[in-house]
Amino acid sequence: MNAVVLVGGFGTRLRPLTLTVPKQMLPVAGATMLERVVAHLGAHGVDRAVLALGYRPDVFLDAFPDGRCAGIELVYAVEPEPLDTGGAVGFAAREAGIDDTFIVVNGDVLTDLDVTELVARHRATGAEGTIALTPVDDPSRYGVVPIDADGRVTAFIEKPPAHEAPSKWINAGTYVLEPSVLDRIESGRRVSIEREVFPAMVADGTLFALERTGRWVDAGTPETLIEAALAHLDGSAGREDAIAADATVDPTARVESSWVGPGATVASGAVVEGSLVLAGARIGEGAVVRDSVVGAAATVGARATLDELTVVGHDVTIEPGAVLRAARVPSEAE
Ligand code: GTP
Repeated sequence: MNAVVLVGGFGTRLRPLTLTVPKQMLPVAGATMLERVVAHLGAHGVDRAVLALGYRPDVFLDAFPDGRCAGIELVYAVEPEPLDTGGAVGFAAREAGIDDTFIVVNGDVLTDLDVTELVARHRATGAEGTIALTPVDDPSRYGVVPIDADGRVTAFIEKPPAHEAPSKWINAGTYVLEPSVLDRIESGRRVSIEREVFPAMVADGTLFALERTGRWVDAGTPETLIEAALAHLDGSAGREDAIAADATVDPTARVESSWVGPGATVASGAVVEGSLVLAGARIGEGAVVRDSVVGAAATVGARATLDELTVVGHDVTIEPGAVLRAARVPSEAE
């Protein structure tokens, strides 16, 4: 079974971390987002993952020089220009010569969805496409997908105003598609799968969906990236470490509900709470890092305070004593 994995977006909501590292190559605790997504697909019978690449394809190619990730064969499809979600699926599937039922996933969604069940349901209904749905408290940032008693999708409402959403069930970013869907995607131009392709399939009555609860995190923002990492650590029953084996945490420092990456150091008296400290980052003496992300090889000076979803870019230095709340360093303007 082939899967197209969408990984070509700019990841603007995770800047500055994504200025040099594409979103799916950021760590979610001990493994990259992409490794986790591909391993999950592999566990459900996928043996070839086609990466729909656009932004910084070089980082993916360098990371998997033998063309394999989590034991699965990778195919690289590099778009000449951003084609949006539908255009990317069309381009990647054509490049890889896909001509049978295939899976599509958003490369930034971490889930324990039973993909095997989704495929089985897709085949049983004879659908042209089957989408997994997940419930969320605030559907206004997502595509809301009402279905009838047979599971047929009756509408596809992208980002509805908060109180106008007909349900809490949203597009969870995992699809099973027939190759005929590719005929609906014009090549060479931007096509949104959510705004163009799926509504056309709804109109033809060929799109079905499956409502499933379970673990689901769209790890595309600093808040949800932290959430995804902590969920992995919670769910891994001690098999993965919140503090990487070769990280150094001073005995007088306090690290709680956080992940400290390989080679990172947390100096005496420092506090790290609800945060991610990426590989090789250094947290200075007495510094406080709360609900924030510190990029790889960044330095947080002694007694500095980072709070309220502050994001420090890779290799950045924060001066001793600085106080940052809800800050991005460097900021967009710099
Ligand atoms: P933001 O800039 O933060 O909104 O993120 P994004 O555009 O990178 O991701 P978004 O969550 O909006 O897109 C869903 C998935 O599709 C992500 O896995 C993206 O990497 C991917 N994606 C979005 N646009 C494109 C595109 O034009 N080409 C390709 N290949 N992938 C895309």
